[in-house]
Amino acid sequence: MDKHCTASQYSHYDVIIIGAGASGLYCALTAGRRGRRVLVLDHANKAGKKILMSGGGRCNFTNYFVEPEHFIGSNPHFCKSALSRYPSWEFIGMVEQHKIPYHEREHGQLFCDDSAQDILTMLLDECAAVGVQVRLNSQVDSMQALENDKKARFQLLTSKALSKKEKQEKKEALENAKSMQTGFRCESLVVATGGLSIPTMGASGLGYELAQQFGHSLITTDASLVPFTFTDKTGELIRTLAGISLPVIASNDRISFKLPLLFTHRGLSGPAMLQLSNYWHTGETISINLLPNIDITTLLLAHKKTHPRQLIRTVLTDYTDNALPKKLLVALQTTLWDDIKDKELANIKDERLIELGITLNGWQLKPSGTEGYRTAEVTRGGIKTDEVSSKTMQSNYQDGLYFIGEVLDVTGWLGGYNFQWAWASGFVCGEIV
Ligand code: FDA
Repeated sequence: MDKHCTASQYSHYDVIIIGAGASGLYCALTAGRRGRRVLVLDHANKAGKKILMSGGGRCNFTNYFVEPEHFIGSNPHFCKSALSRYPSWEFIGMVEQHKIPYHEREHGQLFCDDSAQDILTMLLDECAAVGVQVRLNSQVDSMQALENDKKARFQLLTSKALSKKEKQEKKEALENAKSMQTGFRCESLVVATGGLSIPTMGASGLGYELAQQFGHSLITTDASLVPFTFTDKTGELIRTLAGISLPVIASNDRISFKLPLLFTHRGLSGPAMLQLSNYWHTGETISINLLPNIDITTLLLAHKKTHPRQLIRTVLTDYTDNALPKKLLVALQTTLWDDIKDKELANIKDERLIELGITLNGWQLKPSGTEGYRTAEVTRGGIKTDEVSSKTMQSNYQDGLYFIGEVLDVTGWLGGYNFQWAWASGFVCGEIV
């Protein structure tokens, strides 16, 4: 017995879910519909903060075309069962039932017409309708498994979560909060604490710690769906081009994406870079085809034969006018082929023209890193899925313990896939807890 609670002081629930985010709320409403007594605990002062900030405030809540290939993880098969049992049209059905206006953008992405708040309100309304209790500002101080009692397999102690300011201002506030702990017991415990991205929105490593407490392994975590940063000369060049956006093919030796690229003051962003970041590891080179529809090498070599007196910069300007923003072409020219820009094609060796073509059709860049968890949309890696049931999300090591959503080593592409994973994993778990 701990010093703050006696057995009778513990509140009992069938299911306790830690994390009132996308997966936690979806699991809660699914279990609640089955008549289970559900409590959702969250240390944040608001439920679903990431839902609210998602999709630029309009929440890209799912995608018409969801395939296992849109997800990465050390076990690529893990996501298949949940995704097939909870396809995207199930969630779309709920959105339509709640009369939430939405629209499709390119690549099957579905966004709210008005606000991400509509999705959060829908989830909270559905939870409330089946009696789910959501307790915010609740920090989990400890969690332990109880033996020989199926109805109360887990025991949790929580206290009031203090804001950073409160913690700094009043040392004694921390002590007071700890001395007023609340105890809970439950049959099933679901960990839905998400990943590490955007710590200011409530992200924490609690889910990983709890998993390790029960013997689970972690796949190394890293910021993903995140812009790349660059140092030295490349960084300087990129910064001067901030604001420029163009369609490119971004690739490495494993994957390529034909999507827009955005130059920013910090590095390279836009959908092409975010998607590629899911497949990038520190130290690797990325390739950017700045003119996906033009084979520049062939063009320059042909031009050399037909118009040998033409200046190379004239040729490039003529052909790239619409496809490659002028400012970008001038900057690349000054940095990469300043010595030949005023030369006639006839006076430039074929090798140099080929080199130039390769640069434009496959600019090789070595990011120094990424913007990290501060701006990343997701966390790659997480709880190793080989140690969790793909059908129920239950731990292989502890009966009654479940992991759902982003805390697992399942990372979706940009485009509504991460929410679809949150809904699907929350659903299959909510059906069984
Ligand atoms: P989620 O992060 O939603 O919820 C975790 C919850 O656990 C939070 O409420 C948190 O406060 C709580 N928690 C954490 N630690 C705790 C602790 N110690 N104690 C108690 N509670 C704790 N995806 C997509 O498909 N379409 C999109 O448009 C976007 N857009 C987007 C924009 C931005 C800026 C970000 C950061 C992310 C996205 N995403 C996205 C990704 C998507 O938001 C994400 O994958 C899901 O929210 C993951 O759902 P989870 O339930 O796993 O975690």
